Amino acid sequence: MKKEWTIVTGGGSGIGLKLVKKLLKEGRHVGLILRNAARKSELLDAEPGLSRYEKLDYFFADLSVQIEIKAVAQEIINRWPKVDVLFNNAGVLLEKPAFSAQGNEMHYEVNTLAPFLLASHLRPALAKSETPLIVNTSTDGIHYIRKLDIPELINPKKFRKLFGPYMYSKLAQYLIMKDSTEDNGQSKVKYLFVSPGGNKTKLSTGKGMPGWMKLYVKLIYKSPSYGADLLWEAAFNEDISFNSGSYIQKSKAIKIPLTLDPIKKLDLLKGVNI
Ligand SMILES: NC(=O)c1ccc[n+]([C@@H]2O[C@H](COP(=O)([O-])OP(=O)(O)OC[C@H]3O[C@@H](n4cnc5c(N)ncnc54)[C@H](OP(=O)(O)O)[C@@H]3O)[C@@H](O)[C@H]2O)c1
Repeated sequence: MKKEWTIVTGGGSGIGLKLVKKLLKEGRHVGLILRNAARKSELLDAEPGLSRYEKLDYFFADLSVQIEIKAVAQEIINRWPKVDVLFNNAGVLLEKPAFSAQGNEMHYEVNTLAPFLLASHLRPALAKSETPLIVNTSTDGIHYIRKLDIPELINPKKFRKLFGPYMYSKLAQYLIMKDSTEDNGQSKVKYLFVSPGGNKTKLSTGKGMPGWMKLYVKLIYKSPSYGADLLWEAAFNEDISFNSGSYIQKSKAIKIPLTLDPIKKLDLLKGVNI
C-alpha cells in the first residue's frame, strides 16, 4: 500500500480521532501521538474497538514540551521503518493566555512550533518514504490576515479569543513551514496546510470560542468526520493533486499573500529552545 505509515497528532479526540479510524479501516499503520499514557487509557475506555487494530501504535509526548517532541520523534525513527504521512493535527484554542515549559504562549507553542519541530525531528524517517507528505491542520481565513503580529503571537498583550493568537499561530505555522520547504532544496517532502472547516469538537465548543460564535457553532458546524475527510482527501485522493506549500480550504488551494522575510523568520523561531 502507498502512503502506509502515518503519524497523527491530536488523534485522541475530534477530527484527529475520526481520521485515525478511517486510516485504520483502510489498513494503514497509524502512529498515534497522545499527550501521555493516561490519555491512552481514556481513549480505549471510550473507544474499545481501537484495541483490535494491530497496526495502531501509541507514542506519547506533550507537544508543548520541546524535549518531548524530540524524544518521541527519535522513538518513531527507532521503531518504524519510515513515515509516509505526518498529520500535524493537534491544536489548542484557549480562553486566555497560557505559557509552556519553555515560556512561550501556548497557541504559538502547540499550533506553530510543535508541528515545525516534529516535522524537523522526523526528517530522517520521512526521507525513507518515496512520497513523504506532511499535512498540517490549519484553519479557515488565514489568507485574510494582512499583517502577522509576531509580538502579539509570542506574548499577547491584548488577547483576543480565536482572532488573536489562535489565528496568528495558524498563519505562523503556514509561514514558517512553507519557508522551511523552500529553504531546504534537497528535501522531497511535500507540505500541505488544510483547513478542516467548522466541526463540533472539544475545541470548537470549548471556552476558547467567543460567546457570540456559540450559536453559530451549534447550528452550522458539522461532525468531525467532515474535517477528517478533508484532511484525508488532501493526503490520499489521487484525483486531486496540490502543489507543495498549498493552503487548502474546502478542497481548493488559496493563495496566502503574506511571506516571511529573514528577520521575521528569526523572530518566529525565537521560541525554539532545543
Ligand atoms: N473544530 C473546528 O471547527 C476546527 C476548525 C479549524 C481548525 N481546527 C483544528 O483542528 C485540529 C483538531 O482540533 P479538534 O477540533 O479536533 O479539537 P480537539 O478534539 O480538541 O483536538 C485537539 C487535539 O489536540 C491535542 N493536543 C492539544 N494540546 C496538546 C499537547 N500539548 N500535547 C499533545 N496533544 C495535544 C488534544 O489532546 P488533549 O485531549 O490531550 O488535550 C486533542 O486531542 C486543531 O489543530 C484545530 O486547531 C478545528
